[in-house]
Amino acid sequence: MSYDELAAAAAAVRDRTGRPTHAVAVVLGSGLGDYAATMPGAIAIPYADLPGFPVPRVEGHGGTLYSVAPQGRPILVLSGRVHTYEGWPLDKVVFAVRTAVLCGCGIVVLTNAAGGAGDGLAAGDLVLIRDHINLTTRNPLVGANDARLGPRFPDMSAVYPADLRQMAHRAGERAGVPLKEGVYAWFLGPSYETPAEVQMARRLGADLVGMSTVPEAIAARHMGARVLGISLVTNLAAGISPVPLSHEEVQQTAQEARSRFTALLDALLPKLAD
Ligand code: HPA
Repeated sequence: MSYDELAAAAAAVRDRTGRPTHAVAVVLGSGLGDYAATMPGAIAIPYADLPGFPVPRVEGHGGTLYSVAPQGRPILVLSGRVHTYEGWPLDKVVFAVRTAVLCGCGIVVLTNAAGGAGDGLAAGDLVLIRDHINLTTRNPLVGANDARLGPRFPDMSAVYPADLRQMAHRAGERAGVPLKEGVYAWFLGPSYETPAEVQMARRLGADLVGMSTVPEAIAARHMGARVLGISLVTNLAAGISPVPLSHEEVQQTAQEARSRFTALLDALLPKLAD
């Protein structure tokens, strides 16, 4: 992935949306895919129409970029992400987020489904990511650095700044959706963790375990964007849950939590874009 490929994708977004800049980008995780489709004035662009964009292979969900403008401030909604466990190279995993930052998005909201490993978490909880732990040894910045994107050795002391979490807590209060906070550990997947791995993650300080978000957060921060991470606990992590994990359980909890998650985003996004 070169700077020119990203610049071409960003130019295509500007052309197709007719909006020269966007303020905030939101990546939708499991169960939230159609969130933007019904928003007033939504402009939908299939990923396949955007040069360089990876097209998710999940059946029936090729990936769509939406441009919406609640209260007049343009927001990009990225519906459909690709994961490292699917075999995508990391430059493709972070391509859409990098394009969004080039389109002007100074705030990137990353949502995901995660297993709950920390004390006091339950399925259905919405948790703001306070920090992350990268357990994969993979990093999207490996390789030559293009200084137009960011520095060779970017600081990661405040990937998920406290003021954005405060704004999310306030939006949660307005929407009647309480939010917790926790540390997210990135596992490669696609197998779920073993109970011993979950215990390891807990001892390292993790509350959430999942298979996404961290590469996108690193790439966004590399480019100077500020990140808000929101995990939906779809299940208690392996060994904490009394029953085996299943993708069906994950999807079902995501469906059940959908209206709370979208109420939170409805209350939050216009404020972030202000
Ligand atoms: N582990 C990893 N990823 C996940 C989980 C989990 O328990 N639940 C949803 N995504």
